[in-house]
Amino acid sequence: MSYYALVPAAGSGARMGGAQPKQYLPLLGQPVLRHTLAALCAVPELAAVFVVLAPDDEVWDSHDWSIFGERLIPLRCGGDSRAASVTNGLRAIQGRVDSEDWVLVHDAARACLTVAQTQKLIAQVDSDPVGGILAIPVADTLKRAIGEDAEPRIETTVPRDALWQAQTPQMFRHGQLLQALEWCPSVTDEASAIEFLGLRPRLVAGDATNLKITYPLDLQLAAWILENRDKP
Ligand code: C5P
Repeated sequence: MSYYALVPAAGSGARMGGAQPKQYLPLLGQPVLRHTLAALCAVPELAAVFVVLAPDDEVWDSHDWSIFGERLIPLRCGGDSRAASVTNGLRAIQGRVDSEDWVLVHDAARACLTVAQTQKLIAQVDSDPVGGILAIPVADTLKRAIGEDAEPRIETTVPRDALWQAQTPQMFRHGQLLQALEWCPSVTDEASAIEFLGLRPRLVAGDATNLKITYPLDLQLAAWILENRDKP
């Protein structure tokens, strides 16, 4: 059985509000996506790293990715949503990947992923019949809001016991994940589609440094994390 990474990188990053998609925004002088791919390409267990680009992506070719060698494979088959991009990517690799092989789906925008976090997920999920995801237990008290966006009010407090915040990578078998996403195309992560099959994916504790760059402040946090990593 082999392991592959699949990186959906076909989003527009509307919440970031920049002129170019957030995966190409500069982070310590390199595109966000380059940090993400560098982490995945440094994981020796991964046989290949597939990156799903928008069909009309004009930025990819303006960067030199040759340092990552032939294990990095771009696929120009991004869709209208994250789930559509992942589904299209899974279909595109159908011939090269066995249906029992593991696929680790990882957001392009999680540029601070480490090799150690990825290897922890692989080690803990490898013998699992379903698969699993990196996640962190919710630390804050959670409120459900009602009312106008401009003047929200608290409707209720949601007990945080047993609540986890999903991250990526999310690791599932190729055939089962493709089947699940074809059944449930409007999910926001892979685990949700697997849950719809009545299965219970594993939760593997990650940490808060694996943040998803969504808003402008996240770029600054990511830069700080990358610069200060491994410092005593
Ligand atoms: O927008 P959001 O942060 O939820 O996107 C998560 C990931 O999904 C990003 O890596 C983004 O590039 C990707 N995505 C995609 N195709 C889309 C929308 C998002 O590959 N149509």
